[in-house]
Amino acid sequence: MTKVSAPGKLMLFGDHAVVHGRPCIVTAVNHRMSVEIDKRKDNKITVNAPELKIEDYSISFEDLNKEHPKEVRFVLTAIKNFFEKYNVKSGLNIKTKSEFSSKFGFGSSSAVTVCTLKALSELFDTKMTEKELFDLAYKTVLDIQGVGSGFDVATAIYGGTLYFVTGGKNIKPIKVNEIPLIVGYTGIKADTATLVKMVGENLRNNPEKIHNIFGKIKNIVEETKNEIENKNWKIIGYLMNKNQELLRSLNISSKELENLISVSINAGAYGAKLSGAGGGDCMIALAPEEKHETVKKAIEQAGGTVIPVETNAEGVRVED
Ligand code: PMV
Repeated sequence: MTKVSAPGKLMLFGDHAVVHGRPCIVTAVNHRMSVEIDKRKDNKITVNAPELKIEDYSISFEDLNKEHPKEVRFVLTAIKNFFEKYNVKSGLNIKTKSEFSSKFGFGSSSAVTVCTLKALSELFDTKMTEKELFDLAYKTVLDIQGVGSGFDVATAIYGGTLYFVTGGKNIKPIKVNEIPLIVGYTGIKADTATLVKMVGENLRNNPEKIHNIFGKIKNIVEETKNEIENKNWKIIGYLMNKNQELLRSLNISSKELENLISVSINAGAYGAKLSGAGGGDCMIALAPEEKHETVKKAIEQAGGTVIPVETNAEGVRVED
């Protein structure tokens, strides 16, 4: 039996622009996803995912190409892609476990994909490099979602805090310890694929305007990259607010996100913004330690849920 775990993620800067060739900054969080895989002697693949209410979902490996429920799609597509790439086949028992709800937008789909591929590579002794793991996991996510920059896949693999460019063209660790972040969940599930497509359509209709916004976001990411290693939190908070203004002009914020962002800033945060696709999921606020309790209270009073997170979590690992 092989057990592998990988962290969830929080996008800090560069949301959406990273889908279109620009960089972003992302951190791995201490909430992890894990996958256990065992070989079987027959040709069955059986998945158990208790958090998603999947109990003994069973297919024969000849059926990997067929349509499957969305709860098991990432695991089964990862297996299919792995079998094809390495020309192997086996019956498998799979069990997934998540320390976080898939509704937060912490990247459960990419984390489960990375865990599945890493566990298979251990089980079949294929000695994948991190880059090979990234490429196969990213392909798996694109096979299902059709869109996405791959930043979540990279975070699940490398962990820490990363400077990341579309499709993994550039993946660089950023040296920083704990980032004093507060995470507020809006209670609304964001539909990432729809929002990404909407921004894409906007880009096709107004290329000059949207490229201009993406260019400004890129400049913010580059400036943050320089400031973050020096822990200039006040400046980084200011840059967060600037990034949020630009996201707002892409029409992907929501009144719930805006509400949590404004109460955080009024309660003493240096800055706050949405994290990820927008439309719901989570916002993040950067605040001095002495203001953390006040900011958290303000978020809860405004109807949000504070999710305790530690940043810079370790990337994918094989568990004992
Ligand atoms: O919805 P999330 O949290 O997975 O974030 C999506 C971030 C985007 O930049 C909008 C899309 C992407 O794949 O980079």
